Amino acid sequence: MDQTEFSFEINRLSGHPDEHEKTHVPCVCIHDSTAAHDSLALHVQVGAIPHPMEKGHHIQWVEFFTGDAFIGRVDFAPLICLPEAVLSVRFDRPGKYVLRCVASCNMHGLWEGTNEIVIE
Ligand SMILES: [Fe+2]
Repeated sequence: MDQTEFSFEINRLSGHPDEHEKTHVPCVCIHDSTAAHDSLALHVQVGAIPHPMEKGHHIQWVEFFTGDAFIGRVDFAPLICLPEAVLSVRFDRPGKYVLRCVASCNMHGLWEGTNEIVIE
């Protein structure tokens, strides 16, 4: 992808992550793996190497999903915000879930990260 090309296609992690992937793919997990299913904190950081949050180049928002079901969204302002967020949630029951997070970079489009979690 060109440095200034915005696309509405969702980019995902490849087998050989380049610099764009390392700074854009959201890393999503549960904050405390021993937490009960009725009180969980989902944590996301955009980029294994945190994405810049400059005025002209920043993460605008992240959205959380389980599978295709929307859970929540966090918006960011450049300069003051870090490219990470915590969302407090509860699930109806314990089980295995696929967490999905989509992040929007104002210059480089949409990026998706997933993580399978087991909730007790
Ligand atoms: Fe970017």
